Amino acid sequence: MFQLFPLPYQGHINPMSSPSTTAARGRCVPPPALPLPPDASLHPHYHFVPVHDGGARPAAASPDTVHATVEHILALNRACEAPFRELLAAVLDDNAGGSVACLVADAHLLTLLDVARELGVPTLALCTGSAACFGCFTAFPMLCDKGYLPAQDTSQLDAPVVELPPYRVGDLPAARSPAAHGRTREVLRRAVTAVAASSGLILNTFDALEHAELAALRRDLTVPVFDVGPLHMLSPPAAASASASTSCLLRPDRGCLEWLDAQAPASVLYVSFGSLAVMSAADLVETAWGIASSGRPFLWVLRPGIVRGGAPSPSPPHLPDGFDAATRGRGAVVRWAPQEEVLAHDAVGAFWTHCGWNSTLEAVCAGVPMLCSPCFGDQMGNARYVDNVWRVGVELDGSELERGKVAAAIAAVMDDGGGEPGATGGMRRRTLEMKRRAAESIGVGGSSVLNVDMLASLIQSL
Ligand code: UDX
Repeated sequence: MFQLFPLPYQGHINPMSSPSTTAARGRCVPPPALPLPPDASLHPHYHFVPVHDGGARPAAASPDTVHATVEHILALNRACEAPFRELLAAVLDDNAGGSVACLVADAHLLTLLDVARELGVPTLALCTGSAACFGCFTAFPMLCDKGYLPAQDTSQLDAPVVELPPYRVGDLPAARSPAAHGRTREVLRRAVTAVAASSGLILNTFDALEHAELAALRRDLTVPVFDVGPLHMLSPPAAASASASTSCLLRPDRGCLEWLDAQAPASVLYVSFGSLAVMSAADLVETAWGIASSGRPFLWVLRPGIVRGGAPSPSPPHLPDGFDAATRGRGAVVRWAPQEEVLAHDAVGAFWTHCGWNSTLEAVCAGVPMLCSPCFGDQMGNARYVDNVWRVGVELDGSELERGKVAAAIAAVMDDGGGEPGATGGMRRRTLEMKRRAAESIGVGGSSVLNVDMLASLIQSL
């Protein structure tokens, strides 16, 4: 038996709750305070045990998401330490210490990884971001020593990070949130230490996507690195659909799939900024009018709470007057979508995304080009890879949205560069090639399948 412990954010729960994360049976300690607790009947191989979090809650729409998220992660670690210690000790007593093979925990659950090791339980750390992102974590002290961080002013944000191409300073963790620098440094130092003291690092990525970045991690870390992604594709279709929808913090609106059925192939712009990203009220207005004036059919996920500073409300924010009339018959707006199925739908031609790692990977695997509006954390780095390295999308310029630029960028991605010579042409071809390579990685003899086998052998040997 092993134990799983995800961080209570959508982008961290999804990879951890993939039935193939460990390809085995286990006890899952679900994240505390989930609005929709996991439906145990759909996960018969798991025994769910709640752990009290002392009231620590995921960050609400805050003026500084990085700061709020880092503080929440630290609060959660403090609050869960004692209850988790009690729970694990009881499980070890029950089984005379014999049958817990290991704890698989999110790399940000620092205290829980420490507790498990103190009680003699081996650990595996799951990092839900890219290999490049974890490379940034390990390089963080060097980046501070070289003066890249904390960034002194906004003029420094566009400077290249010579040691970590293609990153720019503004792509580094907390570079745009100076107030969060100290706490981010603490969390990352502890996460890297926890990984180094674990039995291995599990990453939701695949070799063909991040070959050089994985090689660099294997060179720099003393523990084995298992690239087992894309995790959402490793599950059989029925299990994947059940897993994706039952691990959602909001109930997906499946009606949008029928709406997509009625649209022409590759005609629809899918717009979603994940579970945490927030925007200003002004940006929401520019987003709406940019979508409207693009003239394209669209499916827009408008999450309650997406507008920064708005009063907490279970309803999505209001769209500008005239938006419905301007887009009548051309769009669908939902609170939450079954994203993996949406991206796999023939009607979807492009994805306007915040570049959370799961969204990025899901788009790559579905062969859907991206328009990138990264907000915080690893998203800027992910967008840099999408735009500059894999060249399967373009980043929307500017920190503030402007409807004319939005409409032009939507056209560029939907038309794959509009046939003009330039950086954007060929995106769809490259994305489809990456989709093929993602499928190869999880096919017979594929790199991720081999890594899952090695991971399973390691767990059995612990
Ligand atoms: C967070 C961070 O923001 C992200 O940068 C980090 O890489 C992981 O943790 P989140 O913002 O939620 O995650 O983004 P993302 O990683 O893209 O995960 C969102 C998940 O929610 C995806 O698996 C996506 O399929 C799912 N989703 C999103 C839905 O199922 N429906 C939706 O309507 C929107």
